Amino acid sequence: MSVKEKFQKFLEERLPVQAFKDLSSHKMVPEHKQAFWYYFGGITLFFFIILVFTGMVLLFQYQPGLESSHASVLRIVTKVDFGWLIRSIHSWGANLMLAAAFIHMFSVYFMKAYQKPRELTWLTGLGLLGLGMGLGFTGYSLVWDDMAFFATKIGIDMMEGIPGGEYIADIIRGGPEMGGLTIQRMFALHVVILPWIFIGLLGAHLFFLQIHGNKIPEGIEKSGEYRKVPFFPNFIFSDLYVWLICLNLLAVLAAMYPWHIGAEADPLAPSPKGIKPEWYFMAMFQLLKLMPAHVAGMSGELFGNMLFGAAAMFWAAVPVWNPAGTVGRRAKLATYVGLLGLMFIIGFTIWGYTAHPV
Ligand code: HEM
Repeated sequence: MSVKEKFQKFLEERLPVQAFKDLSSHKMVPEHKQAFWYYFGGITLFFFIILVFTGMVLLFQYQPGLESSHASVLRIVTKVDFGWLIRSIHSWGANLMLAAAFIHMFSVYFMKAYQKPRELTWLTGLGLLGLGMGLGFTGYSLVWDDMAFFATKIGIDMMEGIPGGEYIADIIRGGPEMGGLTIQRMFALHVVILPWIFIGLLGAHLFFLQIHGNKIPEGIEKSGEYRKVPFFPNFIFSDLYVWLICLNLLAVLAAMYPWHIGAEADPLAPSPKGIKPEWYFMAMFQLLKLMPAHVAGMSGELFGNMLFGAAAMFWAAVPVWNPAGTVGRRAKLATYVGLLGLMFIIGFTIWGYTAHPV
């Protein structure tokens, strides 16, 4: 018996190898002219994996604390070997992950992959996007430079605009003012609490996908213009190929445009000009900025938050108001709602950047 055969026998006697083999040989992925969009879930996953590893490396050097946060990031980028690169990969990776997650969300929306039996895949996905944005928000604050400090402050202050939000804001801040406890809590959320919830939800998301497989868009299913290819090895190799392209893109961005670090935050200084949130909060920020002081007997901020909350709930409930089998005008309505959502995010984000230039 060769060494390879011996090793295989060793594994087979101890692990359910045959069950894994059956699983990988039975899982099929549809291939058709829109199958390109299937890659975006995997791309999001790839960037998340990169973030976990680079985050762990940064943890060896980052020291949370009022006196140490900014100084330790400065040390990472100036003194630690390749520290600037690891930090740059982590920051660029976070932004690319969120961009991929948004594309993934809209592509599964337009494919109507939220319809029965995939409602839970849709809802866990939305949870992942929310957590991803939470990870971005908490991570951004950890560098404690002037931009991050004031953007975080504005973000937390905005939470006070929702009913009960002042309690959440107080818990995150660790009191009425931002300080050492804020960093401690942001750190706990960023490196332990949110990542573990993210991983749990991701497990559920991928489990549901495993059960139901990929959705074939209705028109393509009816026309029969598709074929099914084995997940292993066909799809996994194309997935890896796409991951390699993403890795190249990330490497080029991180090396050519190292992530910026500003001067240490001074809480007593006036907020710097052009203060703005990260791009994935910009549409919401711009919407709130447009609100007058009072609308319908309530503060403009509360009204804006309620408007946004209602829109998000309507979006999440799409499997209910556009269930499988819906045809005609109602089905078209879902497409228009999707286009409207997409235009709102893109339009308001651009508007936000032009209205608050750096
Ligand atoms: C943020 C982290 C996320 C990760 C890592 C992730 C990962 C994945 C992966 C690997 C797939 C299989 C490949 C594919 O069809 O693209 C998938 C499918 C799916 N995801 Fe996500 N996803 C995330 C977020 C989301 C979001 C924000 C939504 C929507 C709200 C969503 C909804 C879905 C749905 C409905 C499917 C099934 C698609 C189908 O049947 O064709 N996911 N996800």
